[in-house]
Amino acid sequence: MGHLLEISNLKISTPRGKNLVPLLDKVSLNVPKGQCLGIVGESGCGKSITATSLLQQLPYPLRVTEGTTAFDSFQHGKVDLLTLPSKKMRNIRGREIAMIFQEPMTSLDPIFTIQQQMFEALQFHFPRMSHKEMLDKCLSMLVKVNIPRPEQTLSSYPHQLSGGQLQRIMIAIALMNDPRLLIADEPTTALDVTIQMQILDLMNELKESNDAAVLMITHDLGVIAETSQHVAVFYAGHIVEEAPVMELFHHPQHPYTKGLLKSISSLSGDSNLLYAIPGIVPPGGSWDAHCRFAARCEYASEKCLKDVPALTEVASGHLCRCFLHRQEVEA
Ligand SMILES: Nc1ncnc2c1ncn2[C@@H]1O[C@H](COP(=O)(O)OP(=O)(O)OP(=O)(O)O)[C@@H](O)[C@H]1O
Ligand SMILES: [Mg+2]
Repeated sequence: MGHLLEISNLKISTPRGKNLVPLLDKVSLNVPKGQCLGIVGESGCGKSITATSLLQQLPYPLRVTEGTTAFDSFQHGKVDLLTLPSKKMRNIRGREIAMIFQEPMTSLDPIFTIQQQMFEALQFHFPRMSHKEMLDKCLSMLVKVNIPRPEQTLSSYPHQLSGGQLQRIMIAIALMNDPRLLIADEPTTALDVTIQMQILDLMNELKESNDAAVLMITHDLGVIAETSQHVAVFYAGHIVEEAPVMELFHHPQHPYTKGLLKSISSLSGDSNLLYAIPGIVPPGGSWDAHCRFAARCEYASEKCLKDVPALTEVASGHLCRCFLHRQEVEA
């Protein structure tokens, strides 16, 4: 199966004094057509900056300092999203690649009705659509995302709707132009658990019916289990493990992934104690030249404090960055 998006060796840095310090490095990922790739990791490990860099929306003063991408655009052929001229990027953003954020209010404008905002998203890419066509499209999208009373919702302002409804509307807007890739950055974190499940089910359904690929970003392995076929575990600005989803859940190899899994299974187990991996993620740019997880790892040996382990294949399609499995050092 072809890849819709290939990311090779992505590095993102920020200026600090006279230097550029890395916040993310050596990230390579493939998003196959029609599938969901999950990215999971603790706060600050570089999930969101990976996503925003793909749409050329990195927050200032962050910048991409290495790497390339290949996106299979139906308008422009194979393109590198990182260096695409802004006019072409505007054609792709919201049309071929749509993004949903954790907090719908960051994307919806409080002073415009839902209809005005949905119309704007359509008009930008389809300026010749008639009023009637736009209205029909918006109503059918709201029905698709299970919004009750869609007409009334169209004339509402964001503050008149609940968080779950707003997130459904964000999904409707994101999918309205039939994107080939949907990037969802913590799309359900702000919602309560039952609504979370409904939204994830809805995203899975729409992904199937639109044949879209999804890049699902989350700190929650439960969300990955619900949505993803393949998963990359981020830790301190790089990938520490990557595998098909069942392989990762049943045969995790990296001590960090094992810790993440232990912290969710302790929620459902007999123990009253909630397991948390001891210690904290080293902040961006302050990584020593050794395994970034070593300070928190119960298996850390001398080697782990001397060299950076390379991301190597431990089973077919399963990569892990740990000296317990392979002694290879990163070049
Ligand atoms: N606007 C910014 N200015 C400076 N540094 C930033 C900015 N945005 C992110 N960073 C840094 O980039 C690194 C990665 O941040 P990112 O937001 O991608 O993390 P994340 O994995 O999405 O975390 P979370 O789960 O909290 O959303 C962090 O070290 C963060 O401090
Ligand atoms: Mg984030």
